[in-house]
Amino acid sequence: MPSIVRACVVGASGYTGGEILRYLAFHPNIEVTMATSREYVGLPIHYVHLNLRGFYKGLKFEPLDLDKIGSKCDIVFLSVPHGVSLELVPKLLEMGLRVLDLSADYRLKNPEDYKRWYNREHPHPDLLAKAVYGLPELHRDEIRNARLVAVPGCNATSSILAAAPLVKYKLVDLDHIVIDVKVGSSEAGSKAYSGSHHPERENAIRPYDPTGHRHVAEIEQELSLLANRAIRVAFVPHAVSAIRGSLATVHAWLNEGVDEKAVVRAFTTFYAKEPFVRIVRSGLLKYPDPKYVIGSNFADVSFAVDNRVNRVATFAAIDNLGKGSAGQAVQDMNIMLGFEETLGLLIPPLKPA
Ligand SMILES: NC(=O)c1ccc[n+]([C@@H]2O[C@H](COP(=O)([O-])OP(=O)(O)OC[C@H]3O[C@@H](n4cnc5c(N)ncnc54)[C@H](OP(=O)(O)O)[C@@H]3O)[C@@H](O)[C@H]2O)c1
Repeated sequence: MPSIVRACVVGASGYTGGEILRYLAFHPNIEVTMATSREYVGLPIHYVHLNLRGFYKGLKFEPLDLDKIGSKCDIVFLSVPHGVSLELVPKLLEMGLRVLDLSADYRLKNPEDYKRWYNREHPHPDLLAKAVYGLPELHRDEIRNARLVAVPGCNATSSILAAAPLVKYKLVDLDHIVIDVKVGSSEAGSKAYSGSHHPERENAIRPYDPTGHRHVAEIEQELSLLANRAIRVAFVPHAVSAIRGSLATVHAWLNEGVDEKAVVRAFTTFYAKEPFVRIVRSGLLKYPDPKYVIGSNFADVSFAVDNRVNRVATFAAIDNLGKGSAGQAVQDMNIMLGFEETLGLLIPPLKPA
């Protein structure tokens, strides 16, 4: 790869697209040569992303033209709704481009799972096998050689990061894992619908999809791979009154003989070399809060053991637009391109946020 890589963001007018542009604005080895939008063609980037005023001078939103992407870019981020990437991905790969897809279209390995959770046959099951699930903490080596990375969902990322050490080292009853997620409104994207309209969403504390949320499929896929056996989880997300942030709380029951020391060891070992996972054990607040990772690619994780009922609760807090999508996509890109993994991403989160 050349030292300067040319990137295109498809769906650049949306929330994850805007965040990718924000991260790439100070990436030393990336030049964003194209940003697509259907609605804002011809307008400068800051027309939509007011935070990016003064950046990307000269870059304007363009229509999605595959030939143009092929001639102007080396790598493509797809920040588009589910279903839109299905047909874009094979075409972009055929043109020799590397692709990071932020939608759910290529996250599941098994075409039967895709059919079950998305109610349709996957049109390119061969590519499901080739796509790499872009959670570096689990798949770093595969991401290095990938041409197609399926960037994980935000709630899936927080859930998997909170549960992974317990599952990997089999510290808990793997048949009874309960995951509760609280997530902010930007998770639903920039287009408003009745449930996300400000008067409806502000002050909400509301469960949604409590029995069939689609992120369950990828959480179970990844935890099963880690455990080397099938894992099923009970998963309930809640919409809360925040703009950014996803907090996963995992409830599990400790296997006989497992104590707090074993949980500490599992977390410190599993995340020992992870540049973006911080274990929260001290400070004014003892447990993770997405508030303290906002605007960054960090994930704060922690745990608490309740000996009285032999239970462990583990936590992971992320910015859904950081480690939950755009930040993680840039981390994946760095790994794919052989750059330092943290390039352009090592900024401390905001406080207060
Ligand atoms: N928001 C999150 O926290 C989050 C986290 C993880 C993953 N994701 C996933 O990332 C993807 C993007 O999410 P988002 O939150 O950025 O959504 P968003 O804010 O709604 O942005 C999506 C963008 O895609 C463009 N678009 C929509 N339909 C299109 C089509 N048929 N062809 C081409 N472009 C189209 C739209 O731009 P124009 O109308 O201007 O063309 C829109 O701005 C989704 O698949 C989402 O599930 C989101």
